[in-house]
Amino acid sequence: MRIAKDLASRGVASRREAERLVWSGRVSVDGATITDPAHAVAAGEEVALDGAPVPQAADPVVYAVNKPAGVVSTARDPQGRPTVVELLDHPERLYPVGRLDIDTTGLILLTNDGQLAHRLTHPRFEVTKAYRAKVGNGPVLDGALRQLRAGVELGDGRTAPARVRRLSADTVQITIREGRNRQVRRMCEAVGHPVRRLERVAIGGLELGSLRPGAHRRLREPELAALLDATSLSAAAAGRRARGASP
Ligand code: URA
Repeated sequence: MRIAKDLASRGVASRREAERLVWSGRVSVDGATITDPAHAVAAGEEVALDGAPVPQAADPVVYAVNKPAGVVSTARDPQGRPTVVELLDHPERLYPVGRLDIDTTGLILLTNDGQLAHRLTHPRFEVTKAYRAKVGNGPVLDGALRQLRAGVELGDGRTAPARVRRLSADTVQITIREGRNRQVRRMCEAVGHPVRRLERVAIGGLELGSLRPGAHRRLREPELAALLDATSLSAAAAGRRARGASP
């Protein structure tokens, strides 16, 4: 791999900045200063910046966790409440991908991979999130389902079209691509059905499945690839929509 790309992959700098570091003579490979950003680095060679070895990037790690109610989805909580990262024991620092309200249960991802976290949460990538909401004032009638599907007016603007299925008289499954604060609760409230219980059941194609509350499992390589794929597929679809093509 070219030295500039190698440095970027280790998280030292962007590719362009890494090229500048190399040109300025601050980078060495196995003790020899390199000034050509195209210099090829072989596996096992020691790359150093200003004389200090630069560690290899850690392997990406992603866990699926079933967050119970009463647990916060931030990495740390100033009020000392239990956090989702405390539910698992991993030697490296992991970060929650996105947020669930303290009362919301279900699927949340923890990772050390900042790029994946960004792609899964940034609205541009439009990754779907599916929620199961048990609501009050049932039964939920067709009119409410139609409103939820078409988009409802919230204080911060109209919601984008959503996929909505009635699972029983008082339970709906809502799939959205946005991630506004308390969005599903506010959508249901707006159509007259306050949420009593909310669970996230899927992110992209990844389902919560039979993971018990409080339990976690590490995602396998094909699941990671599928998640990343979902972010590029949905970004491409969003681009097409923005250019006026059908989804
Ligand atoms: N929508 C909500 O209202 N709450 C959540 O926790 C997630 C989505």
